[in-house]
Amino acid sequence: MSTDAKVTLPGLRGHVEAGGRFACLTAYDASFARLLDQSGVDVVLVGDSLGMVVQGHGSTLPVTLDDMVYHTACVSRGCRRALVMADMPFLADATPIEALHSAGRLFKEGGCEIVKIEGGREVRETVALLTSRGIPVCGHLGLRPQSVHKLGGYRVQGRDEAAAAGILADAEALEAAGVDMLLLECVPVSLAERVCRAVSVPVIGIGAGPACPGQVLVLYDMLGLSDAPPRFVEDFLAGRGSLREAVEAYVAAVREGRFPAGHQVYR
Ligand code: KIV
Repeated sequence: MSTDAKVTLPGLRGHVEAGGRFACLTAYDASFARLLDQSGVDVVLVGDSLGMVVQGHGSTLPVTLDDMVYHTACVSRGCRRALVMADMPFLADATPIEALHSAGRLFKEGGCEIVKIEGGREVRETVALLTSRGIPVCGHLGLRPQSVHKLGGYRVQGRDEAAAAGILADAEALEAAGVDMLLLECVPVSLAERVCRAVSVPVIGIGAGPACPGQVLVLYDMLGLSDAPPRFVEDFLAGRGSLREAVEAYVAAVREGRFPAGHQVYR
């Protein structure tokens, strides 16, 4: 994939079909978005993780649609090349029609180019409605932080065969409903491999191992700002002289298949 040309969904899909890998990081403001964009990050995710790393909450649940629209607009102003993805915040997609209106704000006011929605088969009607109206959707499976209370914490998902089969069925259902991309969070490597074989859309992994052609980290985690980083996080600023060097090192490590490494995955 060219390092100059604007990243588009068809371009990204072609890149992955040709065996390429791509780098994604979160950003919440224009200055970091510009740094990521200029350092070769392909997809900039305005994650609702902003509720935790920017606002200081203990989960992503308090993040509002207004928060997401505001931060997405800031990030969009900083990006030229990268594809801008925005998170659908908790319950802004309670019904398909609410999801359509919420996504409308993220696109019209926020300027994003794809919206990420947490959920499996239960959101396929929403995905079908949005994609039928020309709104690209990324499905978020595995650990779904908006379900933290139901899950009882932030833990690896899909460890037993029944749970793994459920996530695989979710991935297939979301692809059939029209998603343009999937994100898999905190699942064993073997499950990520099965999902990547089963679907033809690009898959972004976080704590899901090297089978996923796209990789994402929360920006502040990969800059060493977390107190207790999970095992899949690498501090790319450690031993480097600038934020730009850290981000460029991350992009190179993802593109060359050096990140994530064997000790950074779940089995
Ligand atoms: O909100 C976020 O930053 C995310 C990543 C953890 C993938 O969804």
